[in-house]
Amino acid sequence: MTIVVTGSAGRVGSKVAQRLLAMGERVTGFDLKPSGIAHAGYREVTGAFDDREAAADAVTGARAILHLGAFMSWLPADSEKLHRANVDGTRILLEEAAKVKPERVIFASSGEVYPENVPDYLPVDENHPLKPRSPYGLTKLLGEELVRFTERVAGIPATILRFSHTQDAVELLDPASFLSGPRFFLHAKIRQQESFGNTAAVALLKAIDDGTETLVISRNENGRPFKMHITDTRDMIDGILLSLSNEKAAGRTYNLGATAPVDFSAAMPLMAELTKLPIKTIDLPGSGVFYETSNARIRNELGFEPQWTIDRMIAEAAAAWNSRMQAA
Ligand SMILES: NC(=O)c1ccc[n+]([C@@H]2O[C@H](COP(=O)([O-])OP(=O)(O)OC[C@H]3O[C@@H](n4cnc5c(N)ncnc54)[C@H](O)[C@@H]3O)[C@@H](O)[C@H]2O)c1
Repeated sequence: MTIVVTGSAGRVGSKVAQRLLAMGERVTGFDLKPSGIAHAGYREVTGAFDDREAAADAVTGARAILHLGAFMSWLPADSEKLHRANVDGTRILLEEAAKVKPERVIFASSGEVYPENVPDYLPVDENHPLKPRSPYGLTKLLGEELVRFTERVAGIPATILRFSHTQDAVELLDPASFLSGPRFFLHAKIRQQESFGNTAAVALLKAIDDGTETLVISRNENGRPFKMHITDTRDMIDGILLSLSNEKAAGRTYNLGATAPVDFSAAMPLMAELTKLPIKTIDLPGSGVFYETSNARIRNELGFEPQWTIDRMIAEAAAAWNSRMQAA
């Protein structure tokens, strides 16, 4: 019997697979891309989640399925691909899973199933109405429905984990990082806003660009700095493995992420001090990013206790930044 980990080439899935292997489990990885994991207890299926033959192969002998893979994009042009990977892919994977009857499915959902940036109340807990505002968030909500449908109809106990933003600490100060680059670095942010077609934001960002690499504190149109959770991958892995090992997690839905949100205006000075990069502040059109999500349920029910504060993550990111600078 094996534990199937989808997204085995990704940030979270690859490290979950390695942790399970280190614990002596047999693991089957399933991803579009090869993971590079070499271990006697590891088997890998390379293919798309909506490829039924690949999905059937992947779930063979599954004791549990950790569905951690997904396509993440916020580009309008990617809507088709999002639904194919995250909705059809999840449906086909679950239909094949129903034939092998694993003891548990764990599904990586997202805080984007809530309207995080325009919440009805804060902190956002699991009872908050589900009203996604991005096509990606919609695909995650549809994925949750497919997981609960399979639980009801095929009798496969499932745990839904609504993930916080998750980063490897070293990504925080990497301008090339898909998620952290545009969040903290001016040039990456300009490129991202251009790709979204946000012409007003692009004009404002370009107006403060003097050509040098710069950290940027984003605020909304009223000067309120962005605030959101950023969770270290290692804490997410702990939460996933706790959910897998604890019977109480069957049938439950949890917000999984860091306890305290990150106020960008408070975190950025430390980033600047450690990298010696200049900081600029930009007020962007709209209500901006400003939320706090409660992880109280998973802490109280499963004993989840995140270890990686943002300051610890930044210290590790700065060490990686300095090695890159020395190597350059
Ligand atoms: N990282 C975050 O900030 C964050 C936040 C909320 C939710 N999540 C969710 O957590 C999970 C893990 O995120 P991550 O950061 O490891 O993502 P990631 O992008 O690093 O990894 C996702 C993996 O899924 C694979 N994949 C994508 N589409 C596929 C398809 N159609 N068929 C097969 N494989 C496919 C990719 O090749 C990739 O290796 C995902 O489900 C993601 O949606 C992530």
